[in-house]
Amino acid sequence: MNPHSLVSIDDLSKDKIMQLLDRAKFFEEHPNHRFLAGKVVGTLFFEPSTRTRLSFETAVNRLGGRIIGFSDPSATSTSKGESLKDTIKMVSNYVDLIIMRHYLEGAARYATEVTDVPVINAGDGANQHPSQTMLDLYSIYKTQGKLTDLTITLVGDLKYGRTVHSLIMAMKYFNPTFRFVACNELRMPKEYLDFCDSQGIKYTEHTDFSAEVIDSSDIIYMTRVQRERFTDLMEYERVKDLYTLHNAMLDNSRDNLRILHPLPRVNEINVDVDDNPKAYYFEQARNGLFMRQSLICEALQIDPQSDFAE
Ligand code: CP
Repeated sequence: MNPHSLVSIDDLSKDKIMQLLDRAKFFEEHPNHRFLAGKVVGTLFFEPSTRTRLSFETAVNRLGGRIIGFSDPSATSTSKGESLKDTIKMVSNYVDLIIMRHYLEGAARYATEVTDVPVINAGDGANQHPSQTMLDLYSIYKTQGKLTDLTITLVGDLKYGRTVHSLIMAMKYFNPTFRFVACNELRMPKEYLDFCDSQGIKYTEHTDFSAEVIDSSDIIYMTRVQRERFTDLMEYERVKDLYTLHNAMLDNSRDNLRILHPLPRVNEINVDVDDNPKAYYFEQARNGLFMRQSLICEALQIDPQSDFAE
């Protein structure tokens, strides 16, 4: 097992999070440097992705590395019955770093147990999405000037949304106040409420996405209802459009409020919000490039700032 893998946001100390944020800022200022010259990175995507895969691959390209991998597992020997273990062991023969998204919770942890190559978890089922959380933290830090003492409202699919699960865990260092807005079927799972209790994190639960909640938030984090995690599609149809943010709902919101969304969106944010200066989700996705450059260097133990020469 490689100690520089990133499987869960819980693998990162507060100091390491702050260092990674600082490095993301460095890459925002210096995106094109060949710190990965001679390195090969494998991107194994067993589930669909636009932002995560393309921003990781752009990060490798901007760092001068090379990429192998797949985004359609049906075109690999997985479709002939090859196990995840064997796939990881084969790819490990060819690459210096594995970036993997998988539909099974725990798949990334399992991958780290069968290879010595570092693994970055690009999302495992409804469990964790740590690189998304790091870019979310970078986005919060850039827009608020701090991570501490913020009121953060999470809206939508809090049951299956891995990004909100990772975000709660990362915020334990920063004294947040959370508002969890979801219908009963998609409430924040008990294990994360217990986590908040154990860490002394303040939270309230709401089924109503009310003006009071919106107007007292520093961050509103909208999420898509995760259709692919439902076993009963009738239930999905019943809950999929319960929460939609419209521009008029932001009229009395705080000046510093920013709207985040890990994307893709379906109907959670009306397009009339897109031109509001408080909408930040497209910039948030752009921040993913810089944060993923930072995470790749960390996994490969490259120190870009000390190796950097203008
Ligand atoms: N935010 C996110 O994970 O997007 P993709 O599914 O497009 O990678």
